[in-house]
Formats: sequence, structure tokens, C-alpha cells
Amino acid sequence: MKRSEINRIMRENLDFITQMGFHLPPFAFFTRKDWEGLGHEYDEIRDHMLGWDITDYGHGDFEKIGLFLFTLRNGSLSDPNCKKTYAEKILISDEDQYSPMHFHHSKMEDIINRGGGVLVVEVYNATDDDGLADTDVTVTLDGRVMTVPAGCKLRLMPGESITLPPRQYHAFWAERGSGKVLIGEVSMVNDDNTDNRFYEEQGRFPTVEEDEEPLYPLCFEYPRAR
Ligand SMILES: [Fe+2]
Repeated sequence: MKRSEINRIMRENLDFITQMGFHLPPFAFFTRKDWEGLGHEYDEIRDHMLGWDITDYGHGDFEKIGLFLFTLRNGSLSDPNCKKTYAEKILISDEDQYSPMHFHHSKMEDIINRGGGVLVVEVYNATDDDGLADTDVTVTLDGRVMTVPAGCKLRLMPGESITLPPRQYHAFWAERGSGKVLIGEVSMVNDDNTDNRFYEEQGRFPTVEEDEEPLYPLCFEYPRAR
């Protein structure tokens, strides 16, 4: 992705976040220059990959297949001394902007419509060899258990949420005509480098083509503390 496109997405989605009455933590607004002067007291942000995360899943067409994410908090699966067992993200999906079908090997997560349009979540069980099963899917929506057919597209209104257990396939997008959706994600510790199984192979973190200065660094671009 071009840096200018990433900057534009940051600016547009910051406006939407503000419009929705949500607030990001101070580190969201540290520039690359700021980061160069910051010490080890900020290592949790660097090591747990908190912050800006914008992906086109390697398809080069963000509006069609892509997701805006900001990781607000996260633990670490690789650090046995880390006491934080939970994670929280804020995501934004635009109308018909597809987040591809995937499950998580170990992470259980709640995906929440925090406001805006209608969030569509498509669900399948996984087969033993990680395919899409044709069996009915048991889902939990805001504490209510229900069974739906394979491939069911659940429509979540603002305030509604779904609990996604490990190995339950899910894809999501904002419904056409309803507007962007601000999505909350509350989950167990998240490791995007190891825990995601996409039904079809996807990229996760973009290769960035530098064509202008970054507004803010992405979560994998922080300079190490000296
Ligand atoms: Fe997921």
C-alpha cells in the first residue's frame, strides 16, 4: 500500500471515530519523530503491536477487501511474564468492504457493532481439515445462544455483538447503504502473526511504498528504544 493511501485512511477514519464519540489513547498521535525519542517505558506498545493497523490483505484494493484496525490493548503469547490475558481493538468496516473468511486457532473474541451502519457477519463451522463445514452453526449473540445454517449472514445493529469461539469461521463487512460501522473487538490475547487461519491465503500486514511522510507509524514500524 502507498503511504499516502494509509495516511488518507487514517485521516478519514479519525474523523469517523470522532464523529462516533470514541477517543483513542495518547500514543495514537505520536509521530515517528516522537517515537525516536521514547524510551523502554513504552515497550509494551512496541512489543504487543498496539496502535494503527491498516490492511488490504495483500489484494491492493482496500475499498473492496480491507480493514482499518487500532489495537488499544493486548497481552503477549510469547512472554511468559506477561500478566495481561486480554485484548481490545477498534475496527472500521465500510459498506461492502470485505474482511475475508478466517478463524483463530486459540483466540476467542466478541465482535461488537459500536455504532454507525449494520454489521454483517457470515459464519461457518470448520471441518477437521480446516475447510468450510455445511453443518449448522451455534452462535451466541449478546448472551443468547441460537443455531443458524452454515453460511448464515447475521445482521448486527449498533449495540449488538457476536461471540466467536476458536475455529469458528467468520467474515464481516458493513451492509451496503447503511454506512460505515465502528466495530469493537474484545478478546483473549491476540497474535496476528500466528493465530489466524484464512480460508483463502491472504496477506495480513501491508508492504508500504513510501511516497510521502507517515502521519503516524503503523504497529509494526516503531523504532526500538535506545
Ligand atoms: Fe477474527
